[in-house]
Amino acid sequence: MKSYLLNPHAQLFRFGNPIETESLSYSRDRLELQIEASLPLFEVDCKTDETVLRYKMNKGDRVLGLGEAMGGADKRGRYIEAYATDDPVHTPDKSALYGAHNYLFISGHSHCGIYLDFPGRISYDIGFTHPDEMIIIIDGVDFDLYFFQNETLLETVQAFRNLQGVGYAPPKWAFGNQQSRWSYDTRNKILEVADNMRKKWLPCDAIYLDIDYMEGYKNFTIDSTRFPDFEDMVKEMRTKGFRLIPIIDAGVKIEPGYEVYEEGIEKEYFCTNIKGEPYKAAVWPGWVHFPDFQKPQVRKWFGEKYKNLVDFGIEGFWNDMNEPSIFYTCEGLKKFIEKAKECERKNLDLKDYFELETLFETLSGSKEDYESMYQMLEGHRTSHHKIHNLYGFNMTRAAAEGLQDIGSNKRFLLFSRSSFTGMGRYAGLWTGDNHSWWEHILLMIYMMPSLNMGGFLYIGSDIGGFGGDASAALLIRWSQASLLTPLFRNHSALGTRNQEPYAFDDKTTDTMRKVLELRYALIPYIYSEYMKAALKKDLYFKLLSFEYDDDHSKEVEDQLLVGDSAMMAPVYRENDRGRYIWVPEEMLLWKTVMNHQDEFQVIRPGHHYMHLELEETALFIRKNKMIVLSEPAQNVDLMNFSYLTVLAFVDHYAEYHYYDDDGISMEYKDNEQQGMIFRIHQHENAYKISVDQKGNMDVKIINFMITNMQGEFTEIVYQVSDGSLQSKQPE
Ligand code: GLC
Repeated sequence: MKSYLLNPHAQLFRFGNPIETESLSYSRDRLELQIEASLPLFEVDCKTDETVLRYKMNKGDRVLGLGEAMGGADKRGRYIEAYATDDPVHTPDKSALYGAHNYLFISGHSHCGIYLDFPGRISYDIGFTHPDEMIIIIDGVDFDLYFFQNETLLETVQAFRNLQGVGYAPPKWAFGNQQSRWSYDTRNKILEVADNMRKKWLPCDAIYLDIDYMEGYKNFTIDSTRFPDFEDMVKEMRTKGFRLIPIIDAGVKIEPGYEVYEEGIEKEYFCTNIKGEPYKAAVWPGWVHFPDFQKPQVRKWFGEKYKNLVDFGIEGFWNDMNEPSIFYTCEGLKKFIEKAKECERKNLDLKDYFELETLFETLSGSKEDYESMYQMLEGHRTSHHKIHNLYGFNMTRAAAEGLQDIGSNKRFLLFSRSSFTGMGRYAGLWTGDNHSWWEHILLMIYMMPSLNMGGFLYIGSDIGGFGGDASAALLIRWSQASLLTPLFRNHSALGTRNQEPYAFDDKTTDTMRKVLELRYALIPYIYSEYMKAALKKDLYFKLLSFEYDDDHSKEVEDQLLVGDSAMMAPVYRENDRGRYIWVPEEMLLWKTVMNHQDEFQVIRPGHHYMHLELEETALFIRKNKMIVLSEPAQNVDLMNFSYLTVLAFVDHYAEYHYYDDDGISMEYKDNEQQGMIFRIHQHENAYKISVDQKGNMDVKIINFMITNMQGEFTEIVYQVSDGSLQSKQPE
């Protein structure tokens, strides 16, 4: 083992000869700083083909991180596996989901964290077997272990975030509402959704094309019978104010004459079996081959294919089935059929029946299948199983790099289902096939800060739930809980009840309109905080304990700090008309109420019960902080960011960096100071306000709405010219 000091708070311990995953992005020159050190706190047991790490957890230690995983924010007491898995039933006992996020932070009397840069399987027994012991088993002996330690939890996580590179920047319109459903399978259905949205005044920026748009589920093709004149359709949708977002799957259909298949075969771009023949597995189209995204030339080739759709005017994509999901292989199916035949005339006893059932259940995503698939790694044929967790990451990297080449200065919307640490530089992710279960609203709340720690910023869940039937109340509460998630998308599965915001009764449509308008009003704040987190390698979602160090804040997992100024505490339980909240310092509660003036109330530190009817949405503004709002519109392009409202809660002095840019080009890079700094001084019952502008901004009017600690409210309207406040009275 070799060790290196990367910065005062991050050390690298290199075990054996690890594969370069490119998950982190720091200057490799730092690897010249080799030091003599042994791994603190963890006991390491290097065996022949696996490595075991043990850590004795202290009373009060919380274990945070691990990204997309079941359970609360604190993972203590859980067993988790990092092995990307397409499992569409996220019950509490599941140990593996779509991503592999090998970072965790131990927060107790002191704070430390580790990141395991290893592309194979890792298991985390975090006090599941022995309450006070964490046992991590790495399925290999070659890996990089990064160790982080600093004074506070936030600084410890930041030491990791610092090595991750600048985060993915989606276009600004991607912060608008997006509507999806598996089964919008004709041009007319899509147009109908668009028209309903506009008729009902429900703001929306994008409508999704699930696999239904493809011809025979072949990537980069369009079924021209169901979607005639696609280019015209994309244009028509744009004039109505919507972008279309097609899905791309990992598997390439085996079909002679299909260009992607033919090229892949000719150039040997597909993963193989042990004999070097293209590996065959079944997904949506039936038999497919999987591109070997480990090869740079394959990434380039696949990335360029997105141009087929970009040429029609497409500006965003979602990458799916890239664990990669395997429904079955010839071998698996054969075994199952043989067993089924054997059982055909038998009176099945318990053993036979369960054997048959298990064989069927393990047909999909079986480890044996992944073991018998091969990829080229540094010139060697390597079992896919060993690098399994990199597959979705590299597919998405291929897409991101391809799109960058296609539209050099343009931002595309891009997110993926499977992921590995580092993918946050290229794209976002959604949390996969959740259900229309109330418990999954809470699961989303838990996942958001855990994902942020690993640099995944553009994130969200299927609002309303993917599987199962949503009720109106569930959709409303889920939308309220997603008010500030960067990705805000309602998505549902084929065969489930329709759950578009207009699919229920009129009252629900009205409530949803109110929630969506609030979301749009908040886009200046959401965008500002998102871009700062991406550019400064910081966090957008934080647990309360990242900022407040009282004992209660440590325990709260269902309230989140969002950006610098806001706290959310959504209602997520069926039938609840309110909830208990913990308020660590004075905060301003802003409640939007149907058909009434919004309500504002100063909440004193402590435990409170907050009433919140189904039609009401709550947002908290922290002390000496502000949020920036704009008038909602039917889509982001129609919003006027020249007229802003600043909602501030001020005790003496507050300062805010409002970041903004053109929202569509790549020029945000190296421009993290861009925007305006608002400063509000309170002096003897009067406010002194100043604004500093950096870069091109077109802000004309700012309406400052300031509340003091006593709940007294002052409104001051300023006109901005040449970057400073000119007069109190707008023309
Ligand atoms: C997968 C995706 C889901 C999509 C479906 C059909 O289950 O996770 O979002 O709708 O495939 O493409």
